[in-house]
Amino acid sequence: MTFKDLHIISMKDFSRDMIDHILNPAEKLEPIARGMEKSDLLDGKVLSLLFFEPSTRTRMSFETAMIRLGGQVLNLGSLEATSIAKGETLADTIRVVGGYSDAIVLRHPKEGSARMASELVSVPIINGGDGAGHHPTQTFLDLYTIRRESHMDNVKIALAGDLKYGRTVHSLCYALSLYGAEITLVSPKELRMPDEIITDLKTCDIKVTQADSIEEVISNVEVLYVTRIQKERFPDPAEYQKVASSLLITPQLLKKANPELKIMHPLPRANEIDPRVDKTEHACYFKQSFYGVPIRMALLSLIMGALE
Ligand code: NCD
Repeated sequence: MTFKDLHIISMKDFSRDMIDHILNPAEKLEPIARGMEKSDLLDGKVLSLLFFEPSTRTRMSFETAMIRLGGQVLNLGSLEATSIAKGETLADTIRVVGGYSDAIVLRHPKEGSARMASELVSVPIINGGDGAGHHPTQTFLDLYTIRRESHMDNVKIALAGDLKYGRTVHSLCYALSLYGAEITLVSPKELRMPDEIITDLKTCDIKVTQADSIEEVISNVEVLYVTRIQKERFPDPAEYQKVASSLLITPQLLKKANPELKIMHPLPRANEIDPRVDKTEHACYFKQSFYGVPIRMALLSLIMGALE
């Protein structure tokens, strides 16, 4: 299996073998990710970051991954300082940046933008989030976290929060279906998982159920994956206000939890997890954000041809 020059666009494009091919080398790269060992695996390689939406973790963990492996990063930076402010199209920007780099990470509000970009250039495009579509590299690190902190096969997992607009849960569902997961979907009725995704999951022969509250599922699940209500994707701010505080994980709620429960969140959190939960054995979200570094190191090394 070779990943050299592979575009990373949607979790629908990935088999279990392909996912494991990315997750397996990440563990060996952890000491380098922590700065305990040095590496020049990506010496001379250039990664471009084109972010048309805010980002802290995705952008900075890609940067860290390149720096720790001896590579370099080109950052588009603020849009006002680029030719996009003069009206240059995304397509032209991608073609130009393709000539400067060995791979491009693109985050853009429009669903399908990463796929479109991948049809314009031969250097690999990594989808860093396309609107409410997919966020495959978040899913790789989420799976790695589940594997390291809980267990992958047949895991009992609840996905809670904004399942309509949340791209991290859209991508994660497809991947979980390959590992026989038992998935419970918990959201306000306005923010249910799109029917198209539920239909796809049902064809995979896994157990998918819906629940109205976390209380119903907390004693049973092994992983609780919490997401932020995606305020920026609501066409009407009044609709956002109706659901804004529909989810809150508190120490009180966790009294009934499975003792092995791991709580994950792609972050940023808005108000979904009470900060007092951070000190409990259940909290896993800051470890999860760190795991983005070894996972992105593995992925970049594979697509840039430095690892087989
Ligand atoms: C997520 C995203 O951008 O989709 N953040 C991330 O990449 N870790 C989640 C979010 O913004 O809610």
